[in-house]
Amino acid sequence: MKILNTPLTIKNLTLKNRILLPPMAVVKGDMESRVTDELVAYYDEKAASGIFGLIVTEHCFVSPEGQASERQLSVSRDSDISGLQRIAEVIHKHGVPVIAQINHAGGAAKRGVTHLEPLSPSGVHSPGLGDPDLDPAILTPEEMDRIAEDFAAAAARVKEAGFDGVEIHAAHAYLLCQFLSPITNLREDLYGGKTMAERLRFPLMVTAAVRKTVGPDYPISLRLGACDYLPGGNTPAEAAEAACAFADAGIDLFDVSGGLCYYRRPGHKEAGYFSDQVREIRAALAKRAGAALPPVVLTGGIQTASEAEAFLEDGTADLIGLGRCILNGTWKES
Ligand SMILES: Cc1cc2nc3c(=O)[nH]c(=O)nc-3n(C[C@H](O)[C@H](O)[C@H](O)COP(=O)(O)O)c2cc1C
Repeated sequence: MKILNTPLTIKNLTLKNRILLPPMAVVKGDMESRVTDELVAYYDEKAASGIFGLIVTEHCFVSPEGQASERQLSVSRDSDISGLQRIAEVIHKHGVPVIAQINHAGGAAKRGVTHLEPLSPSGVHSPGLGDPDLDPAILTPEEMDRIAEDFAAAAARVKEAGFDGVEIHAAHAYLLCQFLSPITNLREDLYGGKTMAERLRFPLMVTAAVRKTVGPDYPISLRLGACDYLPGGNTPAEAAEAACAFADAGIDLFDVSGGLCYYRRPGHKEAGYFSDQVREIRAALAKRAGAALPPVVLTGGIQTASEAEAFLEDGTADLIGLGRCILNGTWKES
């Protein structure tokens, strides 16, 4: 494979190839959201496989009310650092760099899990997530300041635990994605509503807080929920606009996925089902005057090395994410 096996540099990180394990919540944390031996063994096995140039961990919640599900990992407490360090160490043992994904579930959180009030941009449900019968509360600007600081504190813990970078989750109907989408962000203040520039304000505030905390040299990746593929959702052009704004804010790596449609694309199951969106984003990023092009990841539906190679050769993406085919053992190296 011509490009698949070539190295890639992201800031101070060198990846030995172009294959990435995307974040996948494998429900192996304990009921206190801590790292378990079972979870360490899972990452040990994935890193030992030799397949990956980069591993991104499952999403870890930054604030107690932002926990998405039971047994999800926490990065909200200083006492989480030692467990997370075990994941970084076991992956590094195999010479593979690792990034930790940090998240806040926003209005998609459930009271039965967090025992707290879910907080959302506008009190609107993310389709199919959260408590169906009870609306989430609407965030105040003060609560938003606190959550931005929670993201920053979580990123500092990730760095302290020895990870090579941090990934901000802004996809799959969770809080930052709820801000980006015109379906879930109906705010009429500075942080909302009609234009992407307004809807971006809070996610960019979070990005700035994380960047300030980790410093200029530490890689920050973004899981970008690009389009919602729902009536009234984000358009591909708006998603490209968002990517450029995040790149201007210092995002070093983009893993493009779905918005309110989660990681699937309705009506599509083909290899690389987000490839048209990824191409549009990469083209927009390439046009930013005088700025370097941050690497872009294509994830979704890819199952063979030939499919992966084709998307690298035609310039769709710089890296390929392999999720379910790794969990199911169906990945084909030819
Ligand atoms: C069990 C499972 C858990 C997932 N957890 C996360 C997660 O924590 N964060 C995230 O950004 N995406 C998550 N995803 C989405 C994957 O990263 C990936 O985008 C998706 O599986 C599509 O790629 P694939 O077709 O190669 O599986 C999850 C997917 C699965 C199947």
